[in-house]
Amino acid sequence: MAERIVMVGASGFGREALDVLEAMQAVGADLEFAGVIDDRPSELNLERLQDRGVAYLGTITDWLAGPHEEAYLLGIGSPTVRRILVDKFDAQGCRPFTAIHPNASIGSRAAIAEGVVVCAGAVISTNVRLERHVHVNPNATIGHDSILREFVSVNPAAVISGEVIIEPGVLIGAQALVLQQLTVGHDTTVGAASLVTKDVPPDVIVKGVPGRWA
Ligand SMILES: CC(C)(COP(=O)(O)OP(=O)(O)OC[C@H]1O[C@@H](n2cnc3c(N)ncnc32)[C@H](O)[C@@H]1OP(=O)(O)O)[C@@H](O)C(=O)NCCC(=O)NCCS
Repeated sequence: MAERIVMVGASGFGREALDVLEAMQAVGADLEFAGVIDDRPSELNLERLQDRGVAYLGTITDWLAGPHEEAYLLGIGSPTVRRILVDKFDAQGCRPFTAIHPNASIGSRAAIAEGVVVCAGAVISTNVRLERHVHVNPNATIGHDSILREFVSVNPAAVISGEVIIEPGVLIGAQALVLQQLTVGHDTTVGAASLVTKDVPPDVIVKGVPGRWA
């Protein structure tokens, strides 16, 4: 039977993640899309859903209070918000879906956990581990033997070199580059186009080339 899925989030990434599901369907994945849930969708995003023929199913709270038989996919860019929501979904025994665009490249021995989203053009090299609810955006590259811990987001065209460890909740900005064998501490943000040349502590904002933090 086809897997039925709800998207959590009507904003930009929710609709991009829907593109991933549609691309999977186009190559024969046995899944059905039920619609989008969002606690506070903007009028503009509701129009965008309507324009696309996608149903808005109501708030997350109402969906969780109902039978919630579908699997869910978090279409939300913020690691912090994803972590908060997953606690609620876990408490209700909900099933996360894992979405991998057919045009992404997945290397040998990659371990991809539940709730992960990998977008078009992303390259996941050999022996990479993506823990639960990691998002890898379009054209990002994850080097060999790297580990992205839970709730990490890698924004478009960022490059994570080989043997890197990205701790939970980190956001790697668009086109940032993390050099090989480094560790980025939990809940840190690496700014767009920044260059990480040494280990980064938790909970800082890295900016610039080479990347610096306060
Ligand atoms: C780094 C970032 C998190 C903002 O951090 P912040 O500390 O709140 O920065 P602010 O916006 O307050 O700006 C403070 C200073 O940092 C600079 N700055 C901001 N982002 C920067 C970046 N990525 N690289 C270098 N400098 C940056 C600003 O120009 C400003 O400089 P100034 O004080 O000389 O005027 C954000 O700019 C960023 O890069 N986020 C990632 C965005 C991304 O990936 N977008 C794509 C989504 S698909």
